Amino acid sequence: MIFRLHTWRSGVCLGALLVGLNLGQAADDPRLVPLSRLVQDDSPKVRLEALRALAKIPTAESAALALSVLDRPMDPTLDYALWLTVNDLAEPWIAALQAGTWKPEGREKQLEFALKALKPDQASRVLSQVLASRPLTRDGQGPWIELIGAAGSPRELQQLMDQAVAGGFDNPATGRALKALGEAARLRKARPAGEARSVIPLLRSPDETIQIEALRLASQWKDPALVTAVVEVVNAAGTRPSVRSTALESLRLMGGKESQAALVGLLQSTDPSVRRSAAAALSYLDLNAALPALVAVTQTTTDEAAALEFWRSVLGVKGAGKRIAEALPEQGITPAVARAGLRAGREGGRNELDLVLALTKGAGLTGESGAAGAEVIKDLAAKAQAKGDPYRGEWIYRRADLACVSCHAIGGVGARVGPDMTSIGASAPPDYLVEAVLLPNAKIKEGYHSLILTTKDGTEYTGTLARETPQEVILRTAAGTEQAVAKADLEKREQGTLSLMPGGLLDPLNEQEQLDLFAFLSRLGKPGDFDAAQGGVARYWRLGQTVHTDAQAGQEQWPLTAPWTDKRWAATPALVKGVLTKGLIDEVTKAQAWTARLGVYAGTDLTVPKDGPVRLRLLAGPGAELWVDGQKLGGAGESTAQLKAGSHRILVKLDPKQVPAELRLESPDGSFSLN
Ligand code: HEC
Repeated sequence: MIFRLHTWRSGVCLGALLVGLNLGQAADDPRLVPLSRLVQDDSPKVRLEALRALAKIPTAESAALALSVLDRPMDPTLDYALWLTVNDLAEPWIAALQAGTWKPEGREKQLEFALKALKPDQASRVLSQVLASRPLTRDGQGPWIELIGAAGSPRELQQLMDQAVAGGFDNPATGRALKALGEAARLRKARPAGEARSVIPLLRSPDETIQIEALRLASQWKDPALVTAVVEVVNAAGTRPSVRSTALESLRLMGGKESQAALVGLLQSTDPSVRRSAAAALSYLDLNAALPALVAVTQTTTDEAAALEFWRSVLGVKGAGKRIAEALPEQGITPAVARAGLRAGREGGRNELDLVLALTKGAGLTGESGAAGAEVIKDLAAKAQAKGDPYRGEWIYRRADLACVSCHAIGGVGARVGPDMTSIGASAPPDYLVEAVLLPNAKIKEGYHSLILTTKDGTEYTGTLARETPQEVILRTAAGTEQAVAKADLEKREQGTLSLMPGGLLDPLNEQEQLDLFAFLSRLGKPGDFDAAQGGVARYWRLGQTVHTDAQAGQEQWPLTAPWTDKRWAATPALVKGVLTKGLIDEVTKAQAWTARLGVYAGTDLTVPKDGPVRLRLLAGPGAELWVDGQKLGGAGESTAQLKAGSHRILVKLDPKQVPAELRLESPDGSFSLN
């Protein structure tokens, strides 16, 4: 969003409105008369100017008029202007509310807006008064729960806690209440006056969200009285994996000798994933005590995704990479752990040289790709032009172990940790591309410099800056997630000198494969099969299939209704030219010669801007069917559907015996979803 603030700030535009008005006078101002009309004007532009004029008149009447703009339609620019105005007029408005001259009755929306816009310390001055006449409803309607979290005093926080514990909220509102209490503790170190133990029953809730929020709250309160209950959650038979990993993380964040002892105990768990997470968590509290268990993990873990999660967690401990490297045995590290460690050790602005070396040796991998000099880069770039095959290169780019897709997007599809690659080939010369991939740290693209945050408890967080508020810094991590760090907990904030993109990514590739990859990159955005800039074509698909057991269970129609989150769907981006190939469809649906497939489905969403006819063009072989919102529309070729504005589910049903060599779906009348 771009706000054109300077025009209002400069006051130039106000001139026309304020001719003859003398700025800077007190209450019952004659200037308010015209402004009361203008703030309700039909033109949003005029309302905007009126708001900024009102901001200059510091009276309660002026604040009331400004808030009345909410009676008319709002847009993001008006929202922001009102937000600024409320802040400018905060003191007179608060005084009027406290004196009872500004009454919230019938102006709930205005009240809500104003309280949210105020700074927390200002909001807290009026919150108790406002809440006194407004008990929180069972479904937690309105902004009150979050406002208490952002600005409530210990007394209000206690009331919120009491209501949550007493079952005075439904499940979603209970989750919100716990989250708000957690934010109060995290961002302003505020907590209810009463005993922490009262949260224990909620740690045992059958509701996943409640359990997770209660665990997060426990990790903020850091109260030893909660440790046993958190350990129980880890050990309970039916605990969901997401809850278990939050519980283990809570023990680490709670710290203290009680948590430490509990984690040492969990190292004996019979569940290898618990042992792994407990070892990682313990390394934050006592690296020495955790070392033997960490080494054991490197020798037993065979799942690469689990290993990557392990390394990413452990490397957050300052200095851990070096210490583990020293402790690693000469042999016996599993290849999955070594590969994951090499990647985690070099990504996210880290350069864990000792670890990278030890892992390379310990797993018998080949060494680092030698530091490429300018000559090597030029040479590779030239060879890629002559001998690289961009079509093969595209498949290399998509390989999961290279992880390009987990950080970059093409045509809007993919992750956003690194820059979008849609037109990189058209805009950058080949040797730039080679250098960018082989030596990510040589030149770091503007806006992608990494940031290293160290908290007071010795944890290091790395990523690029996603955004920042007065209270916290939010990083985008190499894993593609966001990590919020409260400024109150910050010890050090450094600009990293390394790219978030790890070096050595191409180590598993032979020279021809590297040339193919570079050839692919250098074609991106040039006209032809590697131009993803053109819209109107489906680029992100869900694939699924029905088999005879589905038919036996009466489930043959599941793809028509199952949400995209259903595990039976597998998501895949189309090739850059906007097609799914037979090979891709078979690979993603894991077509096996011995399972009889009844139907193969490819699905996507289409959002249309207005009611009316929507043209669709399906390129697929014979026997393909096009389904829209659960209704069959036609087959391959052109069809038209009458659709309402909004999002619609499109399915292509294929005959498993006639999966087409290429499948493509276009529409000039809507936009296909990108994820
Ligand atoms: C952990 C995330 C991550 C992974 C994995 C990753 N990249 Fe990057 N990449 C980035 C970031 C962040 C940048 C921008 C900073 C920089 O210039 O180094 C970048 C920059 C680039 C650039 C330069 C872009 C420009 O506009 O200057 C290219 C080309 C590139 N990556 C290609 C690849 C390829 C090919 C792969 C897979 C082999 C890959 N990346 C894997 C994060 C990643």
